Amino acid sequence: MKAIFAYADRIESPTWIAPLQAALPEVEFHHWRPDGPPVGAELAIVWNPPRDLLRREPGVRAVFNLGAGVDALLGLDGLRDDIQLVRLEDAGMAVQMAEYAAYALIRASRQFDVYEGVQASGTWAPQPAIRRKEWTVGVLGMGVMGARVAQTLAAMDYPVAGWSRSGKALPGIESFGGREQLPAFLARTRVLVNTLPLTDDTRNFLCRETLSQLMQGSYLVNIGRGDHLVEEDLLALLETGHLKGATLDVFRTEPLPSDHPFWTHPAITITPHVAAASLKEESVTQIADKVRVFMRGERPTGLVARSKGY
Ligand code: NAP
Ligand code: GLV
Repeated sequence: MKAIFAYADRIESPTWIAPLQAALPEVEFHHWRPDGPPVGAELAIVWNPPRDLLRREPGVRAVFNLGAGVDALLGLDGLRDDIQLVRLEDAGMAVQMAEYAAYALIRASRQFDVYEGVQASGTWAPQPAIRRKEWTVGVLGMGVMGARVAQTLAAMDYPVAGWSRSGKALPGIESFGGREQLPAFLARTRVLVNTLPLTDDTRNFLCRETLSQLMQGSYLVNIGRGDHLVEEDLLALLETGHLKGATLDVFRTEPLPSDHPFWTHPAITITPHVAAASLKEESVTQIADKVRVFMRGERPTGLVARSKGY
């Protein structure tokens, strides 16, 4: 069986393809090339693939994603209903997402941002001790990423709630489900951590209407996708002081343009889409297992429900 390998706009990705080939010697791997002839692939292994990949390789029956979010796959030209989309499940990313959220939360709640600001002036100024019950955390999405984030923050005794479509319940986490429970979830939240997948339902979810329902002086941590956030609404709510800060890892345009106002905003902290990297060893092992299941004619785990978009 042949596989086409496409990693963003990089034509050659030997650091991924060599271990994949070693893990799956029964598969013949080919690099995707913008102007190369079709190779007759039945499998595609991708990250942010070119839009015309499936038109160029119409024999592909399953696409394996080297990441958790499949939004880039759902926009592929020629994506037939019978093509299986399979995503990474955790593969070492959930703990990284939890670390990232913990860093952003602790920086605000323990006022490390304040100490960073006064260090250069040699100021010794202890701030009031944390009142933990006032740092209510709300996690959007309680899937593989959100559940780990919520459990990690709850283990540090922050009051944590999770919101998902189904209202998934986890021990020690207050559970909210569906649009009808969203107002109550937002109203009790001071630090909002977004781990939703990007779908038609969740695009522009972080907007004036939702963010203004958070507690006064709230913080946003966006580690989902840039298209979740209406950027001008965030800027307006920071301006009024309704939001006090934002830690953003993902953006509508990546790389974030150098003249974007987020770069210089004093209340915004930026990282370049690194909240959770796809770790090579874990990812290759997981993809190889899923490919073998597919080749046996069975259903691998991590299959995307096309009707839901995640
Ligand atoms: P997942 O396991 O599929 O979980 C998705 C969660 O979102 C589920 O709890 C689901 O609810 C909930 N959800 C989906 N649509 C919803 C809606 N319309 N309303 C309410 N809840 C909704 O996905 P995952 O593995 O946790 O990954 C989540 C996302 O994290 C990815 O799609 C990606 O965008 C992002 N991510 C970012 C990075 C980074 O480096 N920044 C790294 C990895 C992942 P149910 O439980 O009810 O189905
Ligand atoms: C990274 O953003 C992922 O979805 O894995």
